[in-house]
Amino acid sequence: ANGDRVNRPRVKSAVNEGLIERGEYDHFMLKEIHEQPESLARSILPYIDQATQTLNLGDVADTMFAKADRAVAIACGTAYYAAHTAKYWFEQKAKLAFETDIASEFRYREPVLPQTGPAMFVSQSGETADTLAALRYCRQNGTPAVAVVNVPESSIAREAAAIVPTYAGPEIGVASTKAFTAQLSVLAVLALNAAKARGHLLPGDEVMAVKSLMALPRKVTEALEAQDDIREIAKTLAPCRDVLFLGRGRYYPLALEGALKLKEVSYIHAEGYAAGELKHGPIALIEKDLPVVVIAPKDELFEKTISNVEEIRARGARVILISDAAGIKAA
Ligand code: BG6
Repeated sequence: ANGDRVNRPRVKSAVNEGLIERGEYDHFMLKEIHEQPESLARSILPYIDQATQTLNLGDVADTMFAKADRAVAIACGTAYYAAHTAKYWFEQKAKLAFETDIASEFRYREPVLPQTGPAMFVSQSGETADTLAALRYCRQNGTPAVAVVNVPESSIAREAAAIVPTYAGPEIGVASTKAFTAQLSVLAVLALNAAKARGHLLPGDEVMAVKSLMALPRKVTEALEAQDDIREIAKTLAPCRDVLFLGRGRYYPLALEGALKLKEVSYIHAEGYAAGELKHGPIALIEKDLPVVVIAPKDELFEKTISNVEEIRARGARVILISDAAGIKAA
């Protein structure tokens, strides 16, 4: 399934009128995957001062995060996994307790809201009904809403106290791609600004972080250069009935997102798991016909995840490792 979606009248008419075209690509999703270096640059540059290599978000971080007791982030689908990834950044960098919730769950509980912190709402369209309803619940209870949305004139953007836009451009593909990476980049900017506002970001670390953000479009360009190899690997997954995705730490939400993406676009059953949970159940399923995609760049958790890889290989299953150059060399 190529999964092209037209979820907003304005985008629909732009497609119908030929203002948004697929160009050389077979479908919009592929086009949007290849637009990521540009959409990332567009989403990062407004929030940094290139001359001084410092963060330049304005006063959202000071007003919303400096004195926050905790924050909550609420979203659906892929946007939820972006928020889930940001939890690690807010906790590690800003030392801020950070909860995430799926909007459709949140709105039917009676959630205890932060006393002095915001509720964040992450959404490409800014119109997802459950996310909007959760925002209204927070507003009614006096919790300020920060919207991370791709459509600045959307309902979620209009009803939030503060908006930090992503600039991914119109996303037609039903499975979010460039909007997801734009959300991640803007949430990283927000987490770093929160760290600064809370006195946890040293000036030297700020410059390093800004340099890393500025390097992202180039790194994504490099990653996309592997597309021919990726296509060959994907062909080997096509006949599979099930695929497992594993990640640890901040790559755990990415494993969940990988599984969602595979289900949504290929109709292959996929599950995402925290790598450390492998031994608590899913290990029983590991056998040669269950490929396991492991997301493990070479970081402080790499060795632990590789021990899972060894367990999987010992059971005769195929591992597809997504890593950086250092990780591929060490695996
Ligand atoms: C789903 C889409 O229907 O809605 C996902 O398939 C998306 O890609 C989710 O992440 C939430 O949408 P939005 O517009 O709130 O980000």
